[in-house]
Amino acid sequence: MNMAVELGGNELRSPLIAASGTVGSVVEFAEVASLRPYGAAVAKSVAPVAWDGRKPPRMAPAGASMLNGIGIQNPGVEAWLQEFAPSFADLDVEVWASAVGHTVAEFARVAAAIDSVAGVGAVEVNLACPNLDHDMFALSPDASAKVISEVKAATDKPIGAKLSPNSEDIVRVAAAVQDAGADWVVLTNTAWGFGVDIDTRKPLLSGGVGGYSGVGLKPIALRCVWEVHQSLPGFPIVGCGGVRSGRNVVEYLMAGASAVQIGSTHFAEPRAGRRILKELKRWLRQNNESSPADLVGTASPW
Ligand SMILES: Cc1cc2nc3c(=O)[nH]c(=O)nc-3n(C[C@H](O)[C@H](O)[C@H](O)COP(=O)(O)O)c2cc1C
Repeated sequence: MNMAVELGGNELRSPLIAASGTVGSVVEFAEVASLRPYGAAVAKSVAPVAWDGRKPPRMAPAGASMLNGIGIQNPGVEAWLQEFAPSFADLDVEVWASAVGHTVAEFARVAAAIDSVAGVGAVEVNLACPNLDHDMFALSPDASAKVISEVKAATDKPIGAKLSPNSEDIVRVAAAVQDAGADWVVLTNTAWGFGVDIDTRKPLLSGGVGGYSGVGLKPIALRCVWEVHQSLPGFPIVGCGGVRSGRNVVEYLMAGASAVQIGSTHFAEPRAGRRILKELKRWLRQNNESSPADLVGTASPW
């Protein structure tokens, strides 16, 4: 069965993408799981200089979902390029870089540094990290558009803008990054969440508020996909949030996503991509569908 999908003029061999922060640099992940089921794999976000991240505890269970407050620990783009980029071309998947920064110029610096790396197929711009001590870019259409314009000027690679479910109006932010030159949006990063350890009477995470991901995020991220697809039907979407099964992928495709990322599921089941792709193929066969691409945006309003 042909599992290829098209995303902003780029063909992916599979609609599944490994989400940033859940597969390391991708290079380590290749040692524990086959990359074959994925159309692309997104490396952990990287900044112009090293970030230490937050102190432990940085991850905590939250029912069937989870909270994290890693704070985007990363080695900085130069060290990242030296350590990991030489291996990208040998991996059995297209790697996407994920750029992050405290200022517009910092995002552009990362994009410029990555521009010439052969194994990197796209730059995902992480506008949505909830763990840093500044306003999240993704809350503001203008701030998000400025970042995307500068990244666009710094690289010829395709650009995905990763947005936040915490935005007051996700459609306005999506429209702004589309106008600024993003090739697609990734919907979504984590939602703000919080938990208390009742024994220590401390927040579950050292940073207090953190990112809520996993199954509980799915209806929220799906809502973002649905709203953006209904308002901007021509703008490609990558869905992300709580995907655990082939049926979940079908939900995202029908809501309007052209491809779907798998994140937190990797922590419990590193080889989930293989199972989910199998389940997706089985669903397509059982429902007489010949391609995941045919499902995109097929859910219609009542
Ligand atoms: C521990 C952890 C670290 C993450 N790090 C990043 C990151 O560095 N950059 C980024 O764009 N998203 C990061 N994310 C967000 C995921 O890529 C994804 O958007 C989010 O977890 C929702 O998908 P999920 O419900 O399938 O996990 C991280 C998520 C987790 C759980």
